[in-house]
Amino acid sequence: MARARLPAAAEVAAWLEAHERKSLLRFITCGSVDDGKSTLIGRLLYETQMVFDDQLAALGEDSRRFGTRGAELDMALLVDGLQAEREQGITIDVAYRYFATARRKFIVADTPGHEQYTRNMVTGASNADLAVILIDARKGVLTQTRRHSYLVRLLGIRQAVLAVNKMDLVGYARERFESIVADYRAFAGRIGLDAVTPIPLSAALGENVTRAGGAMPWYAGPTLLAHLEAAPGDARLAAAPFRLPVQWVNRPNADFRGFAGQIASGSVRPGERVRILPSGREARVARLVTADGDLTEAAAGRSVTVTLDAEIDVGRGDLIAAADAAPEVADQFEATIVWLHEEPMLQGRAYLMKSGARTVAATVTPLKHRINVDTLEHTAAERLELNDIGVCEVELDQPIAFEPYERNRALGGFILIDRITNATVGAGLIHFALRRSHNIHWQALDVDKQLRARQKGQRACVLWLTGLSGAGKSSIANRIEKQLAAQGRHTYLLDGDNVRHGLNKDLGFAAQDRVENIRRVAEVARLMVDAGLIVLVSFISPFRAERSMARALFAPGEFFEIFVDTPLAVAESRDVKGLYRKARRGELRNFTGIDSPYEAPEHPEMRIDTTRVSADQAADLVVAHLKAAGVTGGA
Ligand code: ADX
Repeated sequence: MARARLPAAAEVAAWLEAHERKSLLRFITCGSVDDGKSTLIGRLLYETQMVFDDQLAALGEDSRRFGTRGAELDMALLVDGLQAEREQGITIDVAYRYFATARRKFIVADTPGHEQYTRNMVTGASNADLAVILIDARKGVLTQTRRHSYLVRLLGIRQAVLAVNKMDLVGYARERFESIVADYRAFAGRIGLDAVTPIPLSAALGENVTRAGGAMPWYAGPTLLAHLEAAPGDARLAAAPFRLPVQWVNRPNADFRGFAGQIASGSVRPGERVRILPSGREARVARLVTADGDLTEAAAGRSVTVTLDAEIDVGRGDLIAAADAAPEVADQFEATIVWLHEEPMLQGRAYLMKSGARTVAATVTPLKHRINVDTLEHTAAERLELNDIGVCEVELDQPIAFEPYERNRALGGFILIDRITNATVGAGLIHFALRRSHNIHWQALDVDKQLRARQKGQRACVLWLTGLSGAGKSSIANRIEKQLAAQGRHTYLLDGDNVRHGLNKDLGFAAQDRVENIRRVAEVARLMVDAGLIVLVSFISPFRAERSMARALFAPGEFFEIFVDTPLAVAESRDVKGLYRKARRGELRNFTGIDSPYEAPEHPEMRIDTTRVSADQAADLVVAHLKAAGVTGGA
């Protein structure tokens, strides 16, 4: 592929200027290297004489930055919406290439077709208008072709080019082309990909890429480039109601307060009424500020700083929307989730959900079904493995403003982040809000936690004992409770073995069952703390994610994580219940410490080394700690 010399920043600026008025088409190419994808992209770039790769584009961005007015704009807005994923450290292997013709400019996302293809495709397709699906004419429609097409449709792309490549290697046979097209159309129809334009071509020889091929006189349609030049862009966003996710609050001095972001859909003019979500407060737009001066109107895709005519509270992550057509606000959804991590997604686990600039806690509960991308069948599942796609219900810890992904990709798409490692683990597409989230309200009660605890002469809290089976959690918890009871405190001890006889008797020891086990006991502990009790929880609770979820249910200072630290060898040598022996013999599966992990706490409030202190001494230490922390100091 020809490579342009590196132009000066001024030249890049001129290039951008020259192409400013042309419409932009973003497209993605799907297929493997063997299908001739690189050759095809190379030929498009070469024959349009506009080799302009990522590097030069980066330079172009720079030149734009130098042209702006310093601190007044959020420079991060100039990069595309995938920045969030990049910051999250997701391994993306997507190359964006830029080229232009006399009629149009293009951004093509080139996603490698190997194992991580789902991850790459989610990234590359999430803002594309069209997909070029490559097929090797000798091979026809493959499983991979179906998977790519399914993802393309799932990610909101509605028009595809079926590029049947290597026609030269099948003697430019019309029947071969037509049978592949018929085959593909049958599948595309089932997934709702209706706008399919098939083009027979040879990327290697340049037939039907940018020039009509003399080798296939039977083909009367456009070349690939001609089709790309004429394909409709996404007009839906421009026509939709105004939405601006606030990326940044711009407050250079006391006189100016602007809300910066990229308009996700619709357009806005000064004087129009807007509603801020999720708060619901309303105001009028005062000014639309940009680096090039104030605008009288700004539309989808444009980055602007909006000022309002009223002093209302707007923060990063809020949404500014047309007041007469504001989107829904909800805290429970149904969504499709594409899993992107080696660690499986577990039903019941809490993750962080990032949608635009907003981050909230999200729990997947329940996972309704997994989708087999090859057969389109729905199967029951309790977890999603890498590259799996499933339909789930998602519950948030606070409401967000959203739109269904099908209607607005920016407001309906989200990523899921692991709370502990901060890695991006999944991508999601919102279908709709669950009605129940509107119909259930939190009931405000006059007798509250403080009053209930005061009556008992204590502060309510939870002592969360975690450690291996046989570490000594229950013995220590039992002694702590005895001492507290002797002091006249009001307590309750939730013990793993006991709770598993009742509330949790439907749960086993597979990872997703333990997640649910802890979720339930944490919720019960929360109710008991609300009742004013000192609650002792003695559960292995082997995963950091669930302990951190439990902690998040309580107010600061209410949750004491106590790590009962007994080395595996010591717990195993005691083997009070004989379970380690069984596990070693292979009669007990998923045993913590043997074939199921225990993730030791990193920052527990207390760590008890049971190889150094007895259970009685341990209880003394905890009771002293509670007194020092003011839980039992008062009475
Ligand atoms: S947790 O991992 O989900 O928190 P929990 O504390 O409720 O576990 O239950 C642990 C108790 O169940 C252990 O003390 C042990 O007596 C019993 N048990 C039975 N099977 C297992 C297993 N596979 N792994 C760990 N504990 C088991």
